[in-house]
Amino acid sequence: MKALVLSGGAGTRLRPITHTSAKQLVPVANKPVLFYGLESIAAAGITEVGIIVGDTAREIREAVGDGSRFGLDVTYIPQEAPLGLAHAVLIAREFLGEDDFVMYLGDNFIVGGITDLVEEFRASRPDAQILLTKVPDPRAFGVAELDVDGRVARLEEKPADPRSDLALVGVYLFTPAIHAAVRAVKPSGRGELEITHALQWLIDARATVKSTVISGYWKDTGNVADMLEVNRSVLELIDPLDEGSVDARTEIIGRVRIGRGAAVRGSRIVGPAVIGAGTVVENSYIGPSTSIADNCRVTDSEIEYSIVLSGSSLHGVGRVEASLIGRDVEITPAPHIPAAHRLVLGDHSKVQISA
Ligand code: G1P
Repeated sequence: MKALVLSGGAGTRLRPITHTSAKQLVPVANKPVLFYGLESIAAAGITEVGIIVGDTAREIREAVGDGSRFGLDVTYIPQEAPLGLAHAVLIAREFLGEDDFVMYLGDNFIVGGITDLVEEFRASRPDAQILLTKVPDPRAFGVAELDVDGRVARLEEKPADPRSDLALVGVYLFTPAIHAAVRAVKPSGRGELEITHALQWLIDARATVKSTVISGYWKDTGNVADMLEVNRSVLELIDPLDEGSVDARTEIIGRVRIGRGAAVRGSRIVGPAVIGAGTVVENSYIGPSTSIADNCRVTDSEIEYSIVLSGSSLHGVGRVEASLIGRDVEITPAPHIPAAHRLVLGDHSKVQISA
């Protein structure tokens, strides 16, 4: 069995973070979302992985390399434009050969991995197997309708009027039966070859398409609240580890990971929280469910339930909560007079000011 991991796409839903970074590299608990997917593929016993890359190919290659770090053997497959998930299968034909494969969307996050699913698929080997999850607003997803026996009866891509709340999760298990399907479908209204349509083609051809409903799922629907929540739930599972230096005036409570070369002085950290390598925290409070990435500086500040990406600094800014702060951002107090906010914000930024 092989894996096909999709890491193209523009990531418009996570702007402004994705103006400068691939959406698959957005960190959850200081680790790119894509890495969790690669780790769960490796854990399921799959080693041959094709990664579909687009405009952000360079960044993805830099982050993943040859895959050996994950115990994987990675082949990169360039896609000239985001022409759809079925198009990705089409261009991966040579890599996939006659093997069964799992297709994994690199921006999807599945708590608990895919080992059980892969085993189930190997044992029963339907023509295809999909994962479904209940979501509050299915309009941003492929949506499945099941018949009375729980079989997949109909699939629709991003319907305006969803017939169920069961969204297609971005992990699909395929036998080579999918190849005829992806060749048969025509581009959708958004100009893409939809895997949802290819699956519907299989269903219409009376192939067996099995579904499994899961919980513990996240994708970048552009909602920062969702991202903070997935960060929180992953932090719940971390093991404490201190590879940095923590002075005697600092109080660490609960599960906290402190990266190599990080320094914490005169501060209070209440876990679960992660502090990246080379980050300095001084005279500050870091509250639960917070991920501070590498090489940040937090001084005379308080931050809780937030994600801070690498190279950013917070100096003397009181309390920050429920925030997603990008790379190399600087947050400092404004001069006292005049009492005004001074902002330099990139495109698509969102700021909520409490004063
Ligand atoms: C794609 C699929 C959709 C699925 C989703 C899961 O959507 O087309 O059916 O529900 O992935 O991540 P896209 O990310 O292209 O909007």
